[in-house]
Formats: sequence, C-alpha cells, structure tokens
Amino acid sequence: MTARDLSIIGAGHVGLVYAAGMAELGHRVACIDIDVDRIERLRRGELPIFEPGLDEAVCRHSASGRLRFSTSYEDALADAEFIFIAVSTPSTPDGAADLRAVRAAARGIAAAVRGRRPIIINKSTVPVGTGDSVDHILASADGHRPFKVVSNPEFLREGTALHDFFHPDRIVLGSRDRAAAERVAALYEGVNAPVLVTDVKTAEMIKYASNAFLATKISFINEIAEICEAVGADAAQVAAGMGLDARIGGHFLRHGIGFGGSCLPKDVRALAYMGSVFGTHPQLLNAVLQINAAQRRRVLQKVRTALGQLDGARICVLGLAFKPNTDDVRDAPAIDLIRLFLNEGADVTAYDPQAMTKTAVICPDAAYFASPYDAAAGCDAIIVATEWPEFQDLDLGRLRAAAARPIFVDGRGFLDRDAIEEAGFTLISGRDDASSAPVSARDRNGRAVGVSA
Ligand code: UGA
Repeated sequence: MTARDLSIIGAGHVGLVYAAGMAELGHRVACIDIDVDRIERLRRGELPIFEPGLDEAVCRHSASGRLRFSTSYEDALADAEFIFIAVSTPSTPDGAADLRAVRAAARGIAAAVRGRRPIIINKSTVPVGTGDSVDHILASADGHRPFKVVSNPEFLREGTALHDFFHPDRIVLGSRDRAAAERVAALYEGVNAPVLVTDVKTAEMIKYASNAFLATKISFINEIAEICEAVGADAAQVAAGMGLDARIGGHFLRHGIGFGGSCLPKDVRALAYMGSVFGTHPQLLNAVLQINAAQRRRVLQKVRTALGQLDGARICVLGLAFKPNTDDVRDAPAIDLIRLFLNEGADVTAYDPQAMTKTAVICPDAAYFASPYDAAAGCDAIIVATEWPEFQDLDLGRLRAAAARPIFVDGRGFLDRDAIEEAGFTLISGRDDASSAPVSARDRNGRAVGVSA
C-alpha cells in the first residue's frame, strides 16, 4: 500500500470515520473543520459524537502522527494529494439539500491549493449535478483550469460506521476521469469490496436511490403492519416470511415507529424535491414520508385511546436516539413523540443511555432521568422508542411498580410480549406474538434466519 497525504474537510460523523479509517489503512490524514472548539476538543482526544470504537481509533492515530486536526485550509491542504469534502448537507425548509457548506468548502479548497491540482473527492450527500457545480466553483476560483472531481458516496450506518468503513458492500466512484477514479480506488487498498466506476451524476444518484429504497422498505412494512393489525395477522411473521425470499431479503423489514436519523428522512425529502423540480412526480417517495410521519401519530392516538385523555397525563419515553449505539437524535422518532405529547398537554419524562444531553437542548420541556425506573416513576404510559440492547434486560416488574398505570408501547417491536404482560403491563403496540419472533425461521442447514436491520 502506498501511503498518501489526504485532507478531509468536515469533522462530523462521516469525516471523522473516514479520517480514522484512512489513517488505519496507512495514509497521512489532516482533518479540517471551521468549528474551532470542535478541533480543539479533538486535539485533546474528545470526540463530538458517540460512535463505537471511533474515540479509540482517533486517539491511536493522533498519537501515531498519521492523523491531525486543523482549522486552517492552508495548513491542512498544504501537502494533500487527495481532498475529501465531508461536510453536512442539511434539509432546507422545503426539503432541498442545503449546499452552502459544500460550496464554502469548494471555495476554501480553491483558495488554498493555488495552482496545484489535488483530486477532489465528494463524500457529502449532494443532489445530482453537484459534482459538476463543485468542479465549476473550484475552476472558476482558480484560473479556470479544471480539477479532477470524484463522487464517492458513503454508505456508513451510524453505530457501526467504522465496521462499515472496512467492510463496505461496494465502493462507488463517479468521475469524468477514469484514471482519477482509479487513483481514489487505490486509496482503499486493503478494503475488500466491489468497485463500481460510473459518471458523477450516476454515483450521486446511487446514494440517494439506496437510502430511498431502504426507507421504502420500512414504510412498506409499516403499512403492511397496519393492515396486519386490522385483519389479525402477525406482522413480524409476515416480514420474516417475505424476507426469506432472496429477491426481497430480510433486512429493513422491522415495523415500528418508523425511520429517523440524519440520512434517510433528509435524503428521501431531497430526492423527492429534486424529482419535483425536474418535473417528475415522485409519488412513491412522498408516500414513504407520509407513512413514516403517521407512525408517530398512531402511537399518540393509541395512548390517547388507552388513557382516555392526554392532558395532564405523564408519559415516559425510553430511548431517544434514532437508533441504538449512537447519541444522534436528528429526526429521531422519539423527538417527534415528545413534541406530540407535550402539545397535547401531557408531561414527558425520558431516559436514554447516550442521547439525553442532545435531546435536552432541543426538547427542554421534557424531564430527563438517570435511570429508566426513575423516568417511569408515576407515569401513565411507557413508550420504548429505541431498541437499546440494555432495554432487553429491563426489570419489568420494577418498571411496573414504578409506573402509575400499566400502559406500554414497544415502538420497535423488539421486547418479549409475554414478559411485558406477565409484569402486569398492557402492551398496546409492539411485537404481536413473542413466541413467533421472526428469528424462529431456520434455513436448510438449521441456521436462524429472519428480519434484521
Ligand atoms: C443510513 C443507511 O442505512 C446507510 O447505508 C447510509 O450510509 C446512511 O443512512 C447515510 O446516508 O449516511 P443510518 O442513518 O445510520 O444509515 O441508519 P439506519 O441503520 O439506516 O436506520 C435508519 C432508521 O430506520 C432508524 O431510525 C432505524 O430504527 C429505522 N429502521 C431500520 C426501521 O424502522 N426498521 C428497519 O427495519 C430498519
């Protein structure tokens, strides 16, 4: 492996994972962010996010000298042969992707490289065509000589991002310049994955279409689960039965309170927006979003029916992160639920192993507790909104003793219905039948198969 000098612009989730991963592969990495406080903390080994294994990897490579942090483009880009743009592209109010940070990064690069032509690799999730505008910004800011721009979308899942870096299903590289794409492919030497080289727009679209398809699977199974409930079928078993068909696959067929996070909701919105401004009618994508939003309202309605009224009720939300093993609460279903219940005049108490600090900033009117039992004290209903592994070990008897009333919602359908009911709770939403959990299916070799994320 030839060690290269890389710069990564953006010390967020994607930037930090790529910085640590590329350092681990042997490259020399300078990671840059305009947030001075963030960079100072990173230099002290303090990570701004929780991602399993990342703090250890960042510290190890900071100590080895292969990874450094900077706030200066001039400094961080001085030796770079490859520059990754990994800045965030949040949603605008109308659902489009906000590209201000990408454009600012392009202008910063052009000013810092002055005549040199490192390869620019775009990691940020950007609307189709952005690679060309980055090219345009760069070239027009620096002598109108074109740059080599490669789109290299990321497919990292939060919570397993480092693992995904080293074990991707594919590496997608989009460029007008095949040689540039191949030079970027060479950076990944040591990572065993198929490499797909396309044009820039196609690579950008692969990212959106992949996330939109995952979101579609979730909304599909949520719609099926609603029909299952109405007709008396077991949605988890239906998903397991479907997932055994290799053409369908068992992943992303867990029904519940829907998808959240910084990617799936934002990317489906951005793709639908993109389609509509280009004159297409993305009906399926819009339905996916509508079904997802309805999942939270269905929980509200079920709890209202069970309690009679919500005004003055005390609702306990266990799990705030949009999924386990992260402290990320962006677009988390739990945040919507807290707001919906507060709007109805309920009091909300909450507990999460990692995400309470971040939630308290955006939902200051809920009360946060250091344990699930304290959060449940005196509550009228308990809603589990994140499938944290530790919730599987909850002392349900203790939880029931703490709660005032026995209403229980398993928003992720992962807890044992029998155990919840034996503890004295009434499960108004959750796994239909514990004894028929989807993993009970076996393949011809006797291996458990079924539904997973
Ligand atoms: C997602 C994609 O899975 C990654 O491939 C992609 O790289 C990433 O977005 C991104 O664009 O950066 P992530 O946001 O980490 O990754 O989360 P997922 O694991 O996809 O889960 C998203 C949401 O769907 C979570 O709220 C999860 O609870 C929910 N989900 C997932 C379900 O409700 N049901 C399922 O069956 C699976």
